[in-house]
Amino acid sequence: MQQTDFLIIGSGVAGLRAAIELAGAGAVNVITKGAVAEGSTWRAQGGIAVALAEGDEPELHMKDTLRAGAGLCDEEAVRVLVEEGVSCVEELISWGAKFDEENGRLSFTQEAAHEIRRIIHAMGDATGEEVHRTLMRKARGIKNIKFMEHTFLVDLITDEKECSGALIIDKNGRTQIISAGATILASGGLGQLYKDTTNSEVATGDGVAVAWRAGCELQDMEFVQFHPTTLYLPSAPCFLISESVRGEGGILRNSEGKTFMAGYHEMGDLAPRDVVSRAIFSQMWRTGSGSVFLDMTHLKPGFLRKRFPNIYLTCKEYGLDIASDLIPVRPAAHFLMGGIRTSLTAQTSIERLLSCGEVASVGVHGANRLASNSLLEGLVFGKRAGVSAARYSGRGIAVGKGSPEEKAKPKAKPDLKHMKKSLKQLMEQKAGIVRCGKSLGEALEKLEEWDKIAGGACASIEEFELRNMITAARLITASALKREESRGAHYRSDCPDTDDKHWKKHIVIKSSDVSS
Ligand code: SIN
Repeated sequence: MQQTDFLIIGSGVAGLRAAIELAGAGAVNVITKGAVAEGSTWRAQGGIAVALAEGDEPELHMKDTLRAGAGLCDEEAVRVLVEEGVSCVEELISWGAKFDEENGRLSFTQEAAHEIRRIIHAMGDATGEEVHRTLMRKARGIKNIKFMEHTFLVDLITDEKECSGALIIDKNGRTQIISAGATILASGGLGQLYKDTTNSEVATGDGVAVAWRAGCELQDMEFVQFHPTTLYLPSAPCFLISESVRGEGGILRNSEGKTFMAGYHEMGDLAPRDVVSRAIFSQMWRTGSGSVFLDMTHLKPGFLRKRFPNIYLTCKEYGLDIASDLIPVRPAAHFLMGGIRTSLTAQTSIERLLSCGEVASVGVHGANRLASNSLLEGLVFGKRAGVSAARYSGRGIAVGKGSPEEKAKPKAKPDLKHMKKSLKQLMEQKAGIVRCGKSLGEALEKLEEWDKIAGGACASIEEFELRNMITAARLITASALKREESRGAHYRSDCPDTDDKHWKKHIVIKSSDVSS
């Protein structure tokens, strides 16, 4: 058994920011499933939305965030995000983060559903890389922060009320308990539940599944955001093409070469993400095509190469020149708006357990996240999680009586690879961009069947991971089935209207409220 003051699960922007905040308060262990940079932070392209441009102010940022969130944002949480976001970004710059500049001043780009250009970016389209590098440099310089890479979280250790650490499998395959005064879950999202995703291999919903088993309250699990534009080529991996490409003038065309977004929303190609993703989905359906196209051919080649070096080079690798070719794109699972329900101080419903970043749901995103608000959320609420956790420094670290117990081994060994593939297909088809009561009911039935096969005792990380994927998929599907309306990223073809009278509220769930 290891003992520490603070255990942080996840090494993305939120986890790192929390670790830095805790530096003066005690020993911090950061565990992470892959290598430190393997999560979503490093992959973020577009930037950070922050009210720093001339003529901008937090109030305007708040207005755009609330509008994109389709009536489900928590206003107080959004106010914290947009106001504290300014000083968090300035602090990051003071730690050495280099954002792109024009004439010696920060350069701002445009993204969907923002009324003004307020997104700062780094190295053109590699903002996440710069943010992560800066935080890692800062964290590595603090001697009481210890990193454990390739370490898998099996379960939290809790009694009815408190969390006292976690059961983990370390990089050598050893199972051990890390006992902690406070635990912060910052383990990221669950894009890997879907066939097409912008997320890395590690994003399998472990955090929400573990929190669910521990009895934590979750909310808004039905709201999964699909990014409208990812590269679609049979030979290429699903690669994000930043929304800022459209912010700089890129245009969507269907397979007949026609523009179409003006027919769906007054903001056209820069409509909120959920609107653009559904519009693309319906164009693909109507034309029987596997993608639509992003057209940048009217933009200057030199500008494109400089502004989007990463996208330019990746497309080139697959034989496409973004300056002269139309780029085939289609939506892919990108971000979970819901997750572990937290207060403004990152407190979950379990004492000594805090949560921040994508795995948490503090209410800043509502039913649809505004573009480039996620790195900001990680900075602001990561810092707040650190402040909250600090009060548990040096407190008792006894292991709770609810420690996970070994259960009987399942009789039949599931074919893990096959089951994961089937789960991704099922979620894409039945709980994806467009869902309905029938498809969700079918998906839930299947998932419950699979849970019986793979949900029991597990013997390897792959088995634990599959169990978590099934749990997270069940939570999304059950919540989506319950919400009998359409709102933001949750679109039900059998209930296409938004129903404020009955559904302008969060769906909050916890395992003790469910019979099976
Ligand atoms: C992008 O660059 O389009 C992604 C930004 C985000 O998800 O907010």
